Amino acid sequence: MRKPFIAGNWKMFKNIKEAKEFSEEFLKLYVPSDVQVAICAPYTQLSVLVDSFKGTGVKVGAQNMHYEDNGAYTGEISANMLKEIGVDYCIIGHSERRQYFGETDETVNKKLIKAFEYNILPILCVGEKLEERDSGREYDVVKTQLIKAFESISEAAMEKLTVAYEPVWAIGTGRTATPEQANEMCGYIRSVITELYSEEIADKVIIQYGGSVKPSNISELMNMYEIDGALVGGASLKPTDLIEIVNF
Ligand code: 13P
Repeated sequence: MRKPFIAGNWKMFKNIKEAKEFSEEFLKLYVPSDVQVAICAPYTQLSVLVDSFKGTGVKVGAQNMHYEDNGAYTGEISANMLKEIGVDYCIIGHSERRQYFGETDETVNKKLIKAFEYNILPILCVGEKLEERDSGREYDVVKTQLIKAFESISEAAMEKLTVAYEPVWAIGTGRTATPEQANEMCGYIRSVITELYSEEIADKVIIQYGGSVKPSNISELMNMYEIDGALVGGASLKPTDLIEIVNF
């Protein structure tokens, strides 16, 4: 059985004070259950969140990391730096990083390898753009992203992987993929993992849907067989909204 996993992606929102307020309010409402919860915050809020959520079961993630241990990479943060402050997860290959910051399938692959080396649990984002879906290429696009991301990744590492299917046209647009569309692609992602590894491995990989997830649509998404969780942007910024999503 795969454990449901709801992760918030705060993107570039909230300062330290707001992060503290969020965690206090969230913890007042949060009742631990078999749903795994994580908050992926900007770097400067990570330590505060690690402290606030210590012992609660709520995990903390970063939104990006570099693929080298250290070096002359001005402005970058490495996996060992994240590990040092107690970060559990890291989003890798988010479409906003691919779109605005030159993230490629090759850098995504290097980052996955490095994250596993430091025991940081990666949330690998894949998904097609609108024109790719409109021209019927969504499955090819996602398959290519997966094949390139998984180069040299071992079976043992794969068991710790989360994949987030985030169709770019559904991010921050209010336009959610239908539960059927999301389920179909999540099932397809699992079939690609079966092809590349095995059914046993594919059965263990958590596959989230992301893109305009909110309290009003989470339950129909989570009712779909292939969808194990959600990567939530805008709606993860308010504790009351995120709690409703976690308690789908
Ligand atoms: P929204 O939930 O704001 O559409 O963002 C989705 C996302 O990009 C999560 O990583």
